Amino acid sequence: MARVATPAKLRVGVLISGRGSNLQALLDAAGEPDFPAEIGLVISNIPGAYGLERAATAGIATRVIDHTAYPSRGAFETALSEGLREAGCELVCLAGFMRLLTGPFVETWWDRLVNIHPSLLPAFRGLQVHERVIAYGARFTGCTVHFVRPAMDDGPIIAQAVVPVFDDDDPDSLAARVLAQELRIYPLAVRLIAERRVRVDGLKVRMDAPRIDQALINPPA
Ligand code: GRF
Repeated sequence: MARVATPAKLRVGVLISGRGSNLQALLDAAGEPDFPAEIGLVISNIPGAYGLERAATAGIATRVIDHTAYPSRGAFETALSEGLREAGCELVCLAGFMRLLTGPFVETWWDRLVNIHPSLLPAFRGLQVHERVIAYGARFTGCTVHFVRPAMDDGPIIAQAVVPVFDDDDPDSLAARVLAQELRIYPLAVRLIAERRVRVDGLKVRMDAPRIDQALINPPA
């Protein structure tokens, strides 16, 4: 019987600091037999982060690389890179990883390092995003998966999802609406990368993907 070669899965390392709901979405996606990526390692810089339990439950290797145990940011980042390389990771996903990564690490993993941010970048970079979206009176917000560049929450955009903001939202209600979409677009972005449909062209991503042609208006007419 003729055997059809199945392409090797892209091996992904995930960096976390906390509860790991985006990690869980990636673990769930990678658990599907036809998903083109596998999670090789989960690293937390925070001992006891709940995401470590999620990874262990899924049977995925975990490591704690505690930044406070290193004399410098550079030494910490070298340890991260070594751990990722030892596990054979080809793509690194930041999933609620609460340490800024400096130039050398970003350069080592250039176009192989992605992040998810809970706003429609380039709007609302940084922390306290939902508070600022509400204070600004934006009618839409959302989330973004992007390649990482040295500046915070900057880099070529791979996928975004948009959600409405309502007058009675508070930061928690808005965060929950955005998070529900984060859990959809992170696995989508990883799949597109693993399928080699994503190409970085200067400041932008170009991709082979279906188009949508639909406007959203909030409030509706
Ligand atoms: C998410 O909102 C993500 O966009 C941001 O940090 C949060 C992490 O949540 N970077 P979790 O750890 O994935 O639950």
